[in-house]
Amino acid sequence: MSEVKSEDRTYHDYVIKDGEFIGDFENLYRDIDDPWRQSSQPNKYARIAGITHLKNFQIKSVLECGSGLGYYANWIHKETGIAPLGIDISKEAIVKAQKLFPNLRFRVSDVTTDLLKYKQFDCILFSEIVWYILPDLNSIFELLTKEFKGKYLLVNQVFYKGTQQYGNEFFTNLSEFIEYVPFTLLGASESTMSEDITIETSSIYRID
Ligand SMILES: C[S@@+](CC[C@H](N)C(=O)[O-])C[C@H]1O[C@@H](n2cnc3c(N)ncnc32)[C@H](O)[C@@H]1O
Repeated sequence: MSEVKSEDRTYHDYVIKDGEFIGDFENLYRDIDDPWRQSSQPNKYARIAGITHLKNFQIKSVLECGSGLGYYANWIHKETGIAPLGIDISKEAIVKAQKLFPNLRFRVSDVTTDLLKYKQFDCILFSEIVWYILPDLNSIFELLTKEFKGKYLLVNQVFYKGTQQYGNEFFTNLSEFIEYVPFTLLGASESTMSEDITIETSSIYRID
């Protein structure tokens, strides 16, 4: 079988392909300029809902876990005045984010191992990262329970209209996700357009 040339690869080849987790984020950011079309910020309904949650609960500081190229952190900053700290497992993404948004702070860090370093933040934001940390979700939730009591967890996550291939044993829609999260649900929003194959969601929890 012939090898796929790097210019013909899409983000699926580096992240989740045919239902298998690959997780090669470093090479993804090296080979593809704008993975997930982050610069145009798709899933706008959920992103705006996330910002509304931050405003509703008068949240003062945010750690964005898996901040990628930093576009959502920047959008949050413009709308709320909060300057999120963005962390990402990919150094390549962090270097690019820092160049794009020199007014914000970004740091290479793995959310599955490093969360304890960020206890000072009021809100932990997972924006489109949950699928990539599924095996560690329970231990992350345990750590949040122990070390972040009283703070907020905000999750923006896309679900698929019947075409999800990965993580089905965890959850396949927002209600199943809410059931899975061991914290008190404070607010949730779900939206889609008829032609979309995805459903955008944003949900916020008090960590208890
Ligand atoms: C779909 S992008 C989301 C980017 C941004 N949060 C947004 O919503 O536009 C997912 C990001 O999660 C990062 N990521 C994956 N696993 C991670 C981990 N264990 N710790 C930190 N970041 C991680 C990837 O490198 C990637 O930049």
